[in-house]
Amino acid sequence: MSKTAELKLNGQTYELPVIEGTEKEIAIDIGELREKSGAITLDLGYKNTGATKSAITFLDGDQGILRYRGYAIEELAEKSTFEEVSYLLIFGKLPTRQELEEFSYDIRTHTLVHEDIKKILDGFPSTAHPMGVLASLFCAQTAFYPESLDPNRSDELVYLSIIRSLAKMPTFAAWSYKNALGHPVNYPDNELDYCSRFLKMMFALPGQRYEVDPVVAQALNQLLILHADHEQNCSTSTVRIVGSSRASIYASISAGINALWGPLHGGANQEVIVMLENIRKDGGNIEKWINKAKDKNDPFRLMGFGHRVYKNFDPRAKIIKRAADGVLAKLGVKDPVLDIAKKLEEVALQDDYFVERKLYPNVDFYSGIIYRALGLPVDMFTVMFAMGRLPGWIAQWKEMRDNKEPIGRPRQIYVGERLRPYVPIDQRG
Ligand code: CMC
Repeated sequence: MSKTAELKLNGQTYELPVIEGTEKEIAIDIGELREKSGAITLDLGYKNTGATKSAITFLDGDQGILRYRGYAIEELAEKSTFEEVSYLLIFGKLPTRQELEEFSYDIRTHTLVHEDIKKILDGFPSTAHPMGVLASLFCAQTAFYPESLDPNRSDELVYLSIIRSLAKMPTFAAWSYKNALGHPVNYPDNELDYCSRFLKMMFALPGQRYEVDPVVAQALNQLLILHADHEQNCSTSTVRIVGSSRASIYASISAGINALWGPLHGGANQEVIVMLENIRKDGGNIEKWINKAKDKNDPFRLMGFGHRVYKNFDPRAKIIKRAADGVLAKLGVKDPVLDIAKKLEEVALQDDYFVERKLYPNVDFYSGIIYRALGLPVDMFTVMFAMGRLPGWIAQWKEMRDNKEPIGRPRQIYVGERLRPYVPIDQRG
């Protein structure tokens, strides 16, 4: 029997259908509420609002569960590759060997970007943040592939846009870094796997032999998997809402890259390292910085702490913390900020302020430490997050398109001036 919820408003009772997901989460369907009662719902920051029904990622914030298409993140991070996880997210199933080989081949054959993209890159000053460059280059693909402008033209074209997105993202990312250095760019080496190809484009220098360290490539592979999707977060919701206007996949994902950039979202990984460095330079007084984070008159927040949905622990942070120890040991790197991070976590987790508010380390708390050990500069951390999140954005965009979802268009409660007459300029006080 289908369930309903009752809403009482102005002496009337309205029956609203209740939707149940496969993991038994429930939602009250308010689709007809305004029509029936004249009221809308208000939920700043969409803290309790479901924007879609999705079959891609399941997340239980109270229990610290994260699954892509039903597979536990812990298992995927240990056993899979980023390309395989991308296929899983986008097409809904683990590929057969042949399907994965074809997918990987398709990606390899589209890694080059149009030479004119370099002219756009040349226009950016070396001071440009690589996230801004990445978003711009990603969107510029609409100019080189104008057939992508109509996302409903054909499924074949959508497949091609998906492949191009996955194939060219590492090239754009590495080139945005080279631009900041003022170095010549490297072209993709298609003999290599996805992560190694990216690393070579990042770090190879003219006239010098560059061998990809398999420890570094494997660590990157795991980090990208851990970031690959996270259901309806700020950047993913942005991708879906932009895509719902039937903007092209490249424009939609470019918008997602911009949404990810902010320090409260993906930009936090960069901020964490800046914060840890500041604490170190300041003498490593953990208590002082914890107190700053608790002080409501101080804008400082403990970056890499807290999450909108995880209220117990972030399963990605657990894996990354373990990986940080392993990667640093394998690479023989000793990073003093890792010790500061661990102490900070220990103190915060025993502090009433953080306990009461259920604030735990999130994915960004330890990821920067690994990126640093891999030789990536701080400005590139959020770019790495974007590279990892790309298959998730694609999968969510495709799901929105395939399900023919309506254009996203929230409502509001107007709290401004009521109607008033126009005042000529010489009569204004
Ligand atoms: N340091 C100090 N206090 C905090 C922090 C923090 N990092 N995070 C939340 N709080 C406090 C906040 O001040 C509020 O206190 P009160 O109830 O007294 O007003 C309470 O905890 C609830 O916080 P909120 O800002 O209402 O929670 P939210 O769900 O709107 O925000 C968040 C979630 C992730 C934006 C926030 O925890 C934050 O700013 N964290 C630091 C930035 C960060 O690490 N972001 C990365 C998130 S994970 C990667 C991703 O997927 O984007």
